[in-house]
Amino acid sequence: MEQELQSLLATALEEINAAAGETVLEEARLRYLGKKGLVTALSARMREVPPDQKAAIGSCLNDARTGITAALETRKAALQAEQDARAAEGLDVTLPGRPLPAGALHPMTQVLDRAIRILRRMGFALATGPEVETEWHCFDALNTPADHPARNESDTFYFPNGMLLRTHTSSVQVRTMQTQSPPVRIIAPGSAFRRDEIDATHLSAFHQLEGLYVAPDVSLADLKGTLAYFFRALFGKDTEIRFRPHFFPFTEPSYEVDVKLAPKGQTPRWVEILGCGMVDPAVFTAICESRGDDVYHPDRVTGFAFGMGLERLAMIQWGIPDIRHLIENDVRFLQQFA
Ligand code: PHE
Repeated sequence: MEQELQSLLATALEEINAAAGETVLEEARLRYLGKKGLVTALSARMREVPPDQKAAIGSCLNDARTGITAALETRKAALQAEQDARAAEGLDVTLPGRPLPAGALHPMTQVLDRAIRILRRMGFALATGPEVETEWHCFDALNTPADHPARNESDTFYFPNGMLLRTHTSSVQVRTMQTQSPPVRIIAPGSAFRRDEIDATHLSAFHQLEGLYVAPDVSLADLKGTLAYFFRALFGKDTEIRFRPHFFPFTEPSYEVDVKLAPKGQTPRWVEILGCGMVDPAVFTAICESRGDDVYHPDRVTGFAFGMGLERLAMIQWGIPDIRHLIENDVRFLQQFA
């Protein structure tokens, strides 16, 4: 049996070293080491071996098994190397590589990221709300009377069931105050929708960034300081801003804020950027009624809110002349921001 094993090992090694491919190699493995393989068959005959020879034959069997396994592995590696060498043939390493197209952030994402980063430094947390809103969240809770022009069918997209596409992100103020007790300090970026005629400065779907801070004793000075810091961080440390009295149903007093900007080579001019004001007590009253408690009672808290159009911010920042560039996805335009 010892001899049988030795000659088996010899043939096996010869066969394996001559194997021309992985399939042949696998066949050889099965033939020798497989369940019905020749080595396995010999192992079964160990029972017939007289006790004094068991140790010698046993070690012969082990040698055969390890020898064949090692040969299989060596041959497999050699075959792989041959294959690699063949693949590399005809490879010209001096050819220029194929360029990997690298993406970049859309300008809108870039403005949004910057604005959020600045406001988060001031302790504003991100808040969100649905784009399909109730009239109550978008208008009533925000002190907007039923006959206000913004609620007109010609200005707002209504669904047959009375829901609407939110016309501003101010609805997130309402949702936040309904679910969180004061103090709240949030920013809500997101889409807003208006039935505007699309032109160089209007889209029917656009983006806003709303801010809200409610706590005991929040003042107009806090609002001014917050916005002054925000615009200095965004446009440079010497940036001047001014507050112009305005009207919004949900803030009193209300303002529009202009920023003094000097586009390259031009004389500085005031550019209107956002709407803001002190949260109207009527909004707090609506929130108290909806919550059924008085943590937002106008005697207990005050607050400021501001809201801006992000497309407008991007246009100002980069001198983009037409808002439609921002949604056309023309690579020639987008590449300039990569
Ligand atoms: N919601 C207002 C708009 O869409 C902006 C605004 C937000 C004004 C918050 C005051 C306070 O124009």
